[in-house]
Amino acid sequence: MNKQTSMLKKLFIAVGAAAIAGLGGSLIHPFGTTAVSGEDRAIFREARIDQETLALVQRACQNCHSQNTKWPSYSHIAPVSWLLTHDVQQARSHMNVSHWQDYSTDDRVRLLSAIGSATRNREMPPQRYLLLHPEARLSDGERQQIYGWTRNERRRIGVRQSSVQ
Ligand code: HEC
Repeated sequence: MNKQTSMLKKLFIAVGAAAIAGLGGSLIHPFGTTAVSGEDRAIFREARIDQETLALVQRACQNCHSQNTKWPSYSHIAPVSWLLTHDVQQARSHMNVSHWQDYSTDDRVRLLSAIGSATRNREMPPQRYLLLHPEARLSDGERQQIYGWTRNERRRIGVRQSSVQ
């Protein structure tokens, strides 16, 4: 290896190290880290959900609406980090399917109808999200599948409620 290429190599390493250090520094952001990346804990506990529908929700919704958020590498760089964390916190505050068991029956019924209509009307997942996450796109059949499940689950909860009375 000649002198010039070894200089170049050193420069590359230095730039790489600086970039990594920079990333580390920007891990600290004002909203705090809300999740550990790559966790895959149970969602919709206490609901009866088939594997197929569950897989669709995991693919298209859980990144924002659960504790299973997989943060992309660029999400640690400010100001992107603030925007993304804020979005996820907003989404979770409206509905967090990692905490399904903590919702009252009334809340579950309301959320199930909201999931059904948001999915059918193509309001969710948000367009801005689909640009960066094409894997979260849902076909008409898949939207119908989620909608059908919300109807069945609503009926199931309703039936249980009236049999208790
Ligand atoms: C980019 C992250 C993101 C993804 C992915 C996403 N959502 Fe949302 N969702 C939000 C945000 C933010 C809100 C609250 C503000 C709003 O309505 O835009 C929300 C609101 C909702 C609400 C309203 C809850 C209420 O209290 O009425 C429902 C229901 C919902 N989302 C369902 C879904 C479903 C179902 C999917 C998957 C098919 C999904 N979302 C995917 C970000 C997301």
